[in-house]
Amino acid sequence: MEDELNNIVESAKQKVAAVTSRAGFETVKAEITGPNGALTKVMKNMGSIAKEDRPTFGKLINQAKTTIQGFYDDALGAIEQAELAARIGPAIDPSLPSPNDPLGSQHPLTKVREEICSIFKQIGFTVTEGTEVETEYYCFDALNTPADHPARDLQDTFYLPSDAQFGNVSKKADERYLLRTHTSSVQIRTMLKEKPPLRIISPGRCFRRDTVDATHSANFHQIEGLYIDEDVTVRDLKAVLDYFFERLLGKGTTTRFRPHFFPYTEPSFEVDFSSSHLAKLGSDWVEIAGCGMVEPAVLESVGVDQEKHSGFAFGMGIERIAMILYGIDDIRYFYQNDARFLSQFA
Ligand code: DAH
Repeated sequence: MEDELNNIVESAKQKVAAVTSRAGFETVKAEITGPNGALTKVMKNMGSIAKEDRPTFGKLINQAKTTIQGFYDDALGAIEQAELAARIGPAIDPSLPSPNDPLGSQHPLTKVREEICSIFKQIGFTVTEGTEVETEYYCFDALNTPADHPARDLQDTFYLPSDAQFGNVSKKADERYLLRTHTSSVQIRTMLKEKPPLRIISPGRCFRRDTVDATHSANFHQIEGLYIDEDVTVRDLKAVLDYFFERLLGKGTTTRFRPHFFPYTEPSFEVDFSSSHLAKLGSDWVEIAGCGMVEPAVLESVGVDQEKHSGFAFGMGIERIAMILYGIDDIRYFYQNDARFLSQFA
């Protein structure tokens, strides 16, 4: 009897160890402890055992059952492990970047800004940055736009509380801080800091109290340009902008200057371009920038010697250029962070 049990246990050990799947496990289990299993049969024989041997025999059977249950548990544990491993896949190092994570791409406004800067850098301009918080003096007064000037109304905008402090944005006197309405204030800060000859461009974010629609945003970007040297004329201004727009918008692009008014330039112009190969535009003239010869009062306010130096300035909106280049018809797309939009510029 004992031998028979030992055989059953031994054979159970081997059979269970060979099992690799749940179905296989159930089959083997049925062969051992199922209704017709080998161990069950032995237990059923209990009746034919002499009464006095039964306790010993019962004990042996229980031992065999416990041992076999141990085999089952081990086998099930192994099967579950294998199933889990199959679900999880091969081992990975979770600290590594995801192989499925696509690389992001530059925002279209960043791309256009970089493109503009790169063209100007190739013709001797350096890039300088101004702060987004400015003071009234640098944003308006020094640019020949005093408090009662009508041009200031258009840009009367986001003022900061009078006790706001910005250690990195110096004041002229005790004027108010505001979010800059244009990048033109960088002209003033540059001319105060550096001596001519100057050739700078300055890209950056600007803010205006504009109602948001397809072409207006209260928060937008400009690029400012300033060129101060000896004997600078409108010819130089036109030549620089012609060169720039042809590089930016493609061969065959032409520009025209329309007389306009800006307080900080005299004469002042609006720049239109025409670029027949740009889809949608046809042969229309499209307004793209403002410019002019730096106004004497501005040079005066920053102490540039006008006997010796003169210069020109220009400013343009980055969104507008990006919309033209990419055929985008709503400025709001730029700020929505929608990956379906942004991924088109990857
Ligand atoms: N600051 C003007 C604007 O925001 C753009 C501009 C016009 C800049 C003429 C200039 C300039 O430097 O000379 O609309």
